[in-house]
Amino acid sequence: MNSKKTGAVPRHIAIIMDGNGRWAKRRLLPRLAGHKQGVEALRRCARACAERGVEVLTVFAFSSENWNRPQEEVSGLMGLLANALAKEVQQLSNDGVRLHFVGDRTGLSDKVCEGLSQAERQTAHNSRLVLNVCFNYGGRWDIAQAASKLAGQGIAITAENLDKAMAMSHVCDPDLLIRTGGEMRISNFLLWQAAYSELFFSPSLWPDFDESDLDQAIAAFGGRERRFGQTSEQIQPPPARIVAA
Ligand code: FPP
Repeated sequence: MNSKKTGAVPRHIAIIMDGNGRWAKRRLLPRLAGHKQGVEALRRCARACAERGVEVLTVFAFSSENWNRPQEEVSGLMGLLANALAKEVQQLSNDGVRLHFVGDRTGLSDKVCEGLSQAERQTAHNSRLVLNVCFNYGGRWDIAQAASKLAGQGIAITAENLDKAMAMSHVCDPDLLIRTGGEMRISNFLLWQAAYSELFFSPSLWPDFDESDLDQAIAAFGGRERRFGQTSEQIQPPPARIVAA
């Protein structure tokens, strides 16, 4: 392995779970059937990440722009969230997963908000994998809310202060950002935090994304040279010291 390449498992993986609608359409099923299958894929992926030593998994479950989808699909996704909270949280907790819901809660019903807080409290003691579920989230919303928080408190708007005021300040920035479903764009996800993330675009539709797809993404990450704005030479580790026997 080239020493400049990480060869490592990413500490933090972020995923744009795209392709649920197409998965359903190919089977002549309603779009919601694809989202339901997407919950299964998320459960499988969280387990696989924990098994591979990934510390943080962040997924894009509902964007600020998803409110513009047909009303039936929006209420279906809200129902799916409520259902997942009722059915999945205990098992996730047993698997050592700590849940965080990231996003604007002002657009959500009191019942859903209470469910999110309860799930966070219930899993707060876990430490095997942090699972951030971005719901009613947008990267622009996050930057704007952080800036407005700082301005309201009279704190200077610097990169460092913004970083601390962001909704994802409890975790390190994503090392690897995966988008499934074949499209190659960021779609307002983690705009600030993904500044130096390695990008991986998988052709698999999210409901089909399995352990081998995850391993492909992790292997691609392991082969990348991360320079964070420096030159290749600068990040070369110093030559090994030869110690006389
Ligand atoms: C994008 O696929 C996916 C979403 C907008 C929703 C993602 C949600 C899940 C995977 C379920 C997990 C959710 C909860 C509530 C925990 P798309 O519908 O845009 O697919 P398409 O591009 O094929 O139409």
